Amino acid sequence: MTELISPLSARLSRITEPATIAMSKKARELAAQGVDVISLSLGEPDFQTPQYIKDAAKQAIDEGFTFYTPVPGIAELRQAICDKFARENDLHFQPNQIVVGTGAKQALANAVLSLVDPGDEVIVFSPYWVSYEEMVKLADGITVPVLGALENDYKVTAAQLEAAITPRTKLIMYSSPCNPTGAVFSKEELGEIAAVLARHPRIWAVADEIYEYINFVGEHYSLARFPEVAERVVTVNGFSKGYAMTGWRIGYLAARADVAAACDKLQSQFTSATCSITQRAGLAALRGGRASADEMVAAYRRRRDLVLGIVRDIPDLITPTPEGAFYIFPDVSAFLGRRTSEGVIINDVNELALYLLQDAHVAAVPGDAFGAPSCLRFSTASADEKLVEAFRRIKVSLGKLN
Ligand SMILES: Cc1ncc(COP(=O)(O)O)c(C=O)c1O
Repeated sequence: MTELISPLSARLSRITEPATIAMSKKARELAAQGVDVISLSLGEPDFQTPQYIKDAAKQAIDEGFTFYTPVPGIAELRQAICDKFARENDLHFQPNQIVVGTGAKQALANAVLSLVDPGDEVIVFSPYWVSYEEMVKLADGITVPVLGALENDYKVTAAQLEAAITPRTKLIMYSSPCNPTGAVFSKEELGEIAAVLARHPRIWAVADEIYEYINFVGEHYSLARFPEVAERVVTVNGFSKGYAMTGWRIGYLAARADVAAACDKLQSQFTSATCSITQRAGLAALRGGRASADEMVAAYRRRRDLVLGIVRDIPDLITPTPEGAFYIFPDVSAFLGRRTSEGVIINDVNELALYLLQDAHVAAVPGDAFGAPSCLRFSTASADEKLVEAFRRIKVSLGKLN
């Protein structure tokens, strides 16, 4: 028999599938067997895209707006993004500093691949969004996770950042509001981080602001607002979360013109521009302002409070209060090492997530995928009744472990 030799490149074999997607696959398999699974694993708004945005897309189709567009996006959209940055973030860009792509995900990948050389270290504020680490691997960089303390709502401090910097550090990456923790950096905290970066002129930052609108505490602050580092910040944002447009595939970055040009070049060889119709939808979204987002945010806040009310009643779960996004990220370390009613020991968060899927029929994502092996992530972007039922079941299942 001939030996099966893998044709896959070494680069690809280093990359893993996102745990979020892997978990939702498992949940779907169980649901296909007729089990009533509640999936809280994917980070996806359960709202419809607002009607005025859909209408703009229909109009684009009817007008025959169906051709290739410039790679970094149509001029009106890039201008509208500059206007949005000026109006809402006090950031002042020219359209040649904006690159629109197929989601914030592509914008992040563009930035990482444009900035990171083999062997460069990338400090990733941890817990972090699952794809950061894999993107850094794709660029042959080295991820240096820096874990924020639970007592500080998992937010990395300037002192922690300073301690992690080496002569090989090229980039820092973080999200605020944060997926998975929901933590939001204040102006003061970001100012301290900017002060560290100001002392290290070789280091760049990727600020992932995709959850900007889903913020329960007030003003969103951008790292790029600090003049001492503004030139070295790539600000990533998009439409998926704030406008409930995950399936449309559109997001963007703003960066210094040479870095934006590099991202444009990279994107021109991989995907070209995102869909022309989607771009018209994005343009309408921005022109409509953030009123539709504000309605959704009110619902996310209500659900967060609903869920916190239940989980705070579950003994031994430690759940910081998320200030934004739509997740809760409890520390579950007290349950590790306990036994199921069948006597099986739960060794780690992966086994705990599987146990909850099998026993409570609720899908969560193990925290190790986010660099936090003592946590589980649950999305709260689901209907109230589903959330109540899911956390009722979780309480029962966790209560059976001893
Ligand atoms: C922190 C963070 N950044 C980026 C993305 C990607 O967003 P998009 O769907 O616009 O590619 C997500 C999606 O889950 C996210 O949670």
